[in-house]
Amino acid sequence: THVGFVPSFFKLLSFNLFNLVTFNGLANSSSYDAFLLDEERGRLLVGAEDHIFSFDLVNINRDHKQIAWPATPSKRDECKWAGKDLGKECSNFIRVLQPFNQTHLYICGTGAFHPICSFLEMGKRAEENIFRLASHFENGRGKSPYDPKMLSASLLIDGELYSGTSADFMGRDFAIFRTLGDHHPIRTEQHDSRWLNDPRFIGVHLIPESDNTEDDKIFLFFKENAMDGEHTGKATIARIGQLCKNDMGGHRSLVNKWTTFLKARLMCSVPGVNGIDTHFDELQDVFLMSSKDPKNPVIYAVFTTSSNIFKGSAVCMYNMADIRRVFLGSYAHRDGPNYQWVPFQGRVPYPRPARHSGDSTPPRTSPMMSSPSPGAGVPSWCEPTWTTSSPSWSWTEWRQRTDSMTSCSSGQVRNFNV
Ligand SMILES: *[C@@H]1O[C@H](CO)[C@@H](O)[C@H](O)[C@H]1NC(C)=O
Repeated sequence: THVGFVPSFFKLLSFNLFNLVTFNGLANSSSYDAFLLDEERGRLLVGAEDHIFSFDLVNINRDHKQIAWPATPSKRDECKWAGKDLGKECSNFIRVLQPFNQTHLYICGTGAFHPICSFLEMGKRAEENIFRLASHFENGRGKSPYDPKMLSASLLIDGELYSGTSADFMGRDFAIFRTLGDHHPIRTEQHDSRWLNDPRFIGVHLIPESDNTEDDKIFLFFKENAMDGEHTGKATIARIGQLCKNDMGGHRSLVNKWTTFLKARLMCSVPGVNGIDTHFDELQDVFLMSSKDPKNPVIYAVFTTSSNIFKGSAVCMYNMADIRRVFLGSYAHRDGPNYQWVPFQGRVPYPRPARHSGDSTPPRTSPMMSSPSPGAGVPSWCEPTWTTSSPSWSWTEWRQRTDSMTSCSSGQVRNFNV
């Protein structure tokens, strides 16, 4: 489960750490998967199994509201006949909970392996006390996964929904979609492991690149299986992906496909005793700390290791300058005697793919970006704070160690070991 913390709420949480207020609402479920902080109305919205909750931000036990939104009996039957576990999988697990306009949220669930979406009415102000699900439902394919076990992430912006999810019953068709809005839906190439290789999506964020909204970029944080020849013995790789918000798709075989999608490895490692770095690759969560300049948030990412021998977790920070440098760098392609991933040395078409959408030719072989040293990607800014004591992320430990990071965040940039 991942929650995006907003600083003021974060203070509230840490204040309450020693004075925990708990909510024991759904006895047999822990599927609290979708969170939305609504500071304007002072509510925390939570999507769970067959339910949507609205909590008071100060005391979650005061005046909480809930709406039941189960899958229909016929969809539950179909799900069971398809061989799924009626008790564990054939519910409506809420996975998308996003602000749509001043009065409504957009909400989607797995719908017993039949994704559905709807609008949740909230009213303009808290005093109106509105919390109501619309009676009209939409197809949720490409928005919510079918299978509640699949990790997905989404962002609704300007009436368009960006979702990284699986889009079929079998859980084999993974894609980054843009749906809703006036445009035709657009997605990543289907069944092409160079684009996405069994991805598990963690977060989607919009980050402006300039004062012109035409340059806005969408960043996706996910983990996926290493590509062939990328890394021996490493199953999972953490990634950052980039899309232009103004991408309208390409021509011919690329109609309704992204032309600006690029991805790079998100590095988080510490030096080992014998010169072999320990990599944290299991991305668990991402948080953007906004700064005065909306173009340059600081990105915090929480990782664990994939290794069975070394169990640990880490927090790495990234800055936008390093991220932009990698996406403006060389494309990666496979070449040489060992058919390794190396920087592409050939002529890059002009205008450069993934700068702007339009007629430019996208990098057709692979959306992968290279970097000066092979196998590397976006380096972490400052040394990671990490712990081996626990395989799961320890909040308190991280807070104790953050002192060592302050020198770095005040402007002194150290490029950590790539
Ligand atoms: C928000 O969207 C919903 C669903 O389309 C619509 O019914 C409602 O009128 C909209 N509200 C505003 C303030 O535009």
